[in-house]
Amino acid sequence: MYVDIGNALASVADPGVTRSELEGIDDQVAAAHSRIAEGRADNEFGYAALNLPALVDAGAIRRAVEPVADAGTVVTVGIGGSALGARTITTALTDDAGDSHVVLDNVDPDEVEGVLADLSFEDVAVNVVSKSGTTAETLANFLVVREAMDEAGVDWTERTVVTTGQSGPLADLAAEHDLPTLAVPTGVPGRFSALSAVGLVPAAILGCDVEAIMEGAWEAEATLGPSLFDCPGYAYGAVSYALEARGASVNAFMPYAERLEPFAEWFAQLWAESLGKDGGGQTPARALGATDQHSQLQLYRAGRRNTMVSFLTPRERPGVEVPEPDAEALAYLAGTDLGELLDAELQATEASLAEAGRPNVRIEIDRLDAHSLGELLYGMCAACIMAGELAGVDTFTQPAVEWGKETARDLLQGEETERTAAVEDKTE
Ligand code: PA5
Repeated sequence: MYVDIGNALASVADPGVTRSELEGIDDQVAAAHSRIAEGRADNEFGYAALNLPALVDAGAIRRAVEPVADAGTVVTVGIGGSALGARTITTALTDDAGDSHVVLDNVDPDEVEGVLADLSFEDVAVNVVSKSGTTAETLANFLVVREAMDEAGVDWTERTVVTTGQSGPLADLAAEHDLPTLAVPTGVPGRFSALSAVGLVPAAILGCDVEAIMEGAWEAEATLGPSLFDCPGYAYGAVSYALEARGASVNAFMPYAERLEPFAEWFAQLWAESLGKDGGGQTPARALGATDQHSQLQLYRAGRRNTMVSFLTPRERPGVEVPEPDAEALAYLAGTDLGELLDAELQATEASLAEAGRPNVRIEIDRLDAHSLGELLYGMCAACIMAGELAGVDTFTQPAVEWGKETARDLLQGEETERTAAVEDKTE
């Protein structure tokens, strides 16, 4: 992973950050790095996420899913941190645009009914994921999937794998039915758990190289150190923090690869849920290059000066040559390749933003493969933890999310609590 912050400098952009400001921030980065290292040494909640390369045995995950490794389709039942990493990984690494991995991360009846109607259950592996084991959407969807499998005459207990915390209703259910069960590593919050069974089970079932993903994560781990100038993840976290402090309250994340589109969604959760605290935190916006050059770019170049744009791109792409054009007006396309065109679109967009003095940062990976993806996921978790340390927020909690989850449960149970009273006031 490489991070180019040239277009975030004050000599190019407003808001921007000067080299001497960055040197000042680097002292804070060194202090934050010591805090992170201490937390990791104690496997403290949250910081433990950066120990995943050492904690996770990719081979053990592969062995655990062997009973369902013949499946052509994986159905993940989970939500938030228990779904987005898994979808990100399989979309990036499989060549069927994510069709072999269906994610039920919502309880919209239209969607669930439609998805289930299209499945051949004898060819399906069901991957149920919930760290707490209590999330209503996940448990409800699991019950619906089980019933659909029963009705189709398929024994769901033979086709289901569970990933959950040490205890809770889902762990109990898995034990009762003797389901293969993987653990969410202790101390790792949901949105930081992509590089564990939480994110890797579907990839392992679908034959992706999970070992290479973890090797990539190891490589990113080796870059962690006391200076943002030597660590791409910390550099991204520190520059985002500095730009936010200078007015970039929006972070538009724009991969230039279709297969990385879910990565922007994963990033949005990581950034919003971790850093949206104490009246601050960047609002993540999701975009896709080159598609959104033809829609959102207008705003990012000429709207409020409150946005940094983060580009993400592989350095190498497969070759798809553009056929010889048969019209004079298309002559400039002669001998080009779609990847070359996409790269040119990215360069043009960067230049367009820089020309208008709008801050942008480029993140690069070598290519779209398992190794680079592991490096990227780890690097961005480190970036987020660094940004949280610099901002002084409690990166690893999500009280607003928990409030909603508990209130929905109270409402369903007909319980009267302070939270449900707030709902009633609203509906009066
Ligand atoms: O990051 C988080 O903590 C959340 O997004 C959770 O992942 C999400 O709420 C799902 O929780 P659980 O895994 O407990 O079902």
